[in-house]
Formats: sequence, C-alpha cells, structure tokens
Amino acid sequence: MNAAAPADNLINPDLFPADQGPPHRLFDAWRAQDPVHWNPANPAYAGGMPGSSGVKGFWVLTRYQDVLDVSMDQALFTSHDGIVLWDVEGEELERQRANFMVMKPEQHSAVKKVIMPPFMPRALAELAPEVDKLAAELVDRVAARGHCEFVFDVASILPVHTFCELMGIPPQYRDQVAGYGNAMADVEGRTSVSMDPMIGLFTLAQQMAEEKRRNPDGRLLSVMVNDTTLNLDPMMINQFVLVFAMAGHETTRSTAAHFIHLMHQHPDQYALLRSDFDAHVDNAIDEVLRYTSTTTNFIRHATADTEIGGQRLRKGDKIYLSYAAANRDPAVFTDPHRFDITRSNARRHLAFGAGPHICVGARLAKLQLRALLKQIVTRIPDIHPVGEPEWLRSIWFNAIIRMPVAFTPEPA
Ligand code: HEM
Repeated sequence: MNAAAPADNLINPDLFPADQGPPHRLFDAWRAQDPVHWNPANPAYAGGMPGSSGVKGFWVLTRYQDVLDVSMDQALFTSHDGIVLWDVEGEELERQRANFMVMKPEQHSAVKKVIMPPFMPRALAELAPEVDKLAAELVDRVAARGHCEFVFDVASILPVHTFCELMGIPPQYRDQVAGYGNAMADVEGRTSVSMDPMIGLFTLAQQMAEEKRRNPDGRLLSVMVNDTTLNLDPMMINQFVLVFAMAGHETTRSTAAHFIHLMHQHPDQYALLRSDFDAHVDNAIDEVLRYTSTTTNFIRHATADTEIGGQRLRKGDKIYLSYAAANRDPAVFTDPHRFDITRSNARRHLAFGAGPHICVGARLAKLQLRALLKQIVTRIPDIHPVGEPEWLRSIWFNAIIRMPVAFTPEPA
C-alpha cells in the first residue's frame, strides 16, 4: 500500500487490491458506529479523472436503508452535480451534464423512456439466441486448449459484442469501443491524466452517429441520433456511447470473473450449482452481484441542508452511496459475509443501484452471465484460477483484471 495514503481513507486506490475487494472491515466498523461517516480529502492522492479538479471530502453511507432512501430521492439528493467521486466544476461539469446519468430529472426520464425498449424482457427474449450463440463461440475458442486468460479472452468479449449488437455498432468498431471503455474504467492505471480514450471514443461516436443519420437502422444509436423529440446534441450522443462503453462492459465482465473465482473458493456452492444449474443459476448470479458489488459506489449531492441518520448535511455536500457496504448490511442480509447461492433475499442487493437511475442494463447483464455460465458449467466444469487473480487498482470498481484459468480440455 502507498505509505502516504491513509488506510482508512476511501480515496486510496490501493485499498481494493489490498483487500481483494472493497474494504469491508472499514465499512463494518463505520456501519456499526458511524453510519454516516465523513471521509476527508486525501492530500496524498495523485490519481485523477480527465477534467477533474481532485476528490474533496464526502459523506459515506454504509447502511442499506440509507443508500436506498437517498437513491430514491432525486429532489433532495441529485445526480445532476456529478455522480463519480472525482469532482468536476465549470465547463467540465457542463460537459458531463450531457451524459444522461447526470441530466436534469425531466430530461433524464424522457431519454430513459426512449432507450428502455431494447432492455425490456420481450426484446431481450429475441436477443437471447444471439447471446447464447456468442457465448458458445467464445467457449469454442478456448475449450480445446485447457487454459486461457479468462478476463480478456472470454469475459470481456461477450458484453462488448452484445451491446454493440443492441446499439447497432458495426463489427469493425467493436475492438476500438472495448479498448476505449477499458481505458476509461482504468482511471488509476493511466500513466498520466489524459483525455485520449475519451477523445478517441467521442471521435468514433461522431463517426458512427453520422452513419446512422445517413442510414437509420432502428437500433438504439440510430434511434437516439434521429429522434426529433429529444433533440440530443452531438455531445449528448458522445456521452451516451461513453456510458455504454463503460457501464455495459467492465461491470459484466468483472461479475463473470468474480463468479468463477468465488466458485473456486467455495467448492460446496459450485457442487450445488452443478447439481441443478437451471434451478440455482439465477440466484447464484444475484448472490455474486451482492457479494462483489463490482460498481462499488456512485455519488449524489444534497440540494438543501438536510439530515441522514441524525447527521446534519449542508446543501452541496457530496454523498458516497456504498453499494458494497449496503450489500453486506446485517440488518438486511443474515450473516452477510457468507457467500450462499441459496440466500433467500439475494435479489434485494443494490449492485445495480436503485430509484430513477437504476441500471438500464441489469436484465441484459444477467442474460449474458447466464448464457456464458451455462457454456462453462456444462463444457469446461473444472475451470479454476491458476495463481492469484490481479485486481484493478481503483477507488470505484471492484474488478478482477487478469485471471489465468485452467480446465480439462474439451474433446475435439
Ligand atoms: C453486472 C453488471 C452491471 C452492474 C453491476 C451495473 C451497475 C450499475 C449501477 C450501480 C448503476 C446506477 C447508477 C446511478 O445510480 O447513478 C447503473 C446504471 C446504468 N447502467 Fe449498469 N451495471 C451493469 C451492467 C450494465 C449493462 C450491461 C448496461 C448496458 C448495456 C448498463 C448500462 C447502464 C446505464 C445506461 C446506467 C444509467 C442509468 C440511469 O442513470 O438512469 N449497465 N449500472
């Protein structure tokens, strides 16, 4: 761990790799004694997001109910002043407000209405055979080899291809979209605070938008570009592609990697899953989401002086919604640090957030995970990590970024 970085300050990208995930010992202590905890700025923190002025202090919510209540109340706890830990101001904040996750509530709900149809059950049922086929092809590529690097050889490809399919992004752009999305998520790994991946993605988005204007195809990007009621400007389209390249990719990929890792750590649970895959898989996916919370936090800002759990907050204060801590709250999840794929209320997790900004892609993510795991469990069931996986250095994502695995090769 960085010697200058306090071990009890969440603005410290070494905390997650050190603990192989979010710092639950801190969250447990705060939830018990200081559930609305003040996390001061960390002057030693040098990391940064392009365009950010740094990370100021913020309130950390660790209780499930507090995270839920704040997520539900956009009037008092807004997304419009920024949703990630890195602070942005002035022009940069205005630019980010073109991102629909940060739009004013009325505009946000109008856009959400337009983009939701492809993520609804009926559309997903139509997409499912394509996702199944892709998952089978991915396992085909490695099954005879007996080993692979799971995160990038397998887990990363499925979400990128799926959301590109859904958006109408042509195959020749997929690798670029994936690369830029990865670079954006790897905030701490960049050697310098560079705008490069963002600029690259925006340039690509504009190129694709131009194509959709010339040749509308009814897919999501085309719908956004050509919708005359929303009047989205080019920056809004760029931000839209950026959100999907990050939100639709890294999260699903990491959850798949966590799934394999956890099953290896809990052979009894894996045996149970294998005994009746269809009966257990959906709850197992929810339990992995609860247990790992790949997106560990998002931010809200108070729009007025208020109070949470007896703690007074001032207008403008920044609030860290710890999904990771909420998902291990013993008031909701009995014996919360136990990994149990039969847990009866695993579905109540907040890994996808809650309220007006709840994840658009939750059902899609589950569809992909189910398809991929079915291939793995039926074809290369003894898959297991070789050595220790590598964790992303991050104050935001709980992500495995490298996990070599081995398995008995599937007969040709
Ligand atoms: C395991 C996978 C995933 C996890 C853990 C996850 C997590 C989250 C979380 C916590 C939020 C809430 C943001 C907030 O409240 O400010 C969110 C929002 C969002 N997610 Fe996901 N996500 C996943 C997969 C996906 C996929 C596959 C897509 C699309 C292809 C997607 C697209 C989005 C979008 C567009 C939003 C913004 C919703 C809004 O602001 O109204 N996500 N996600």
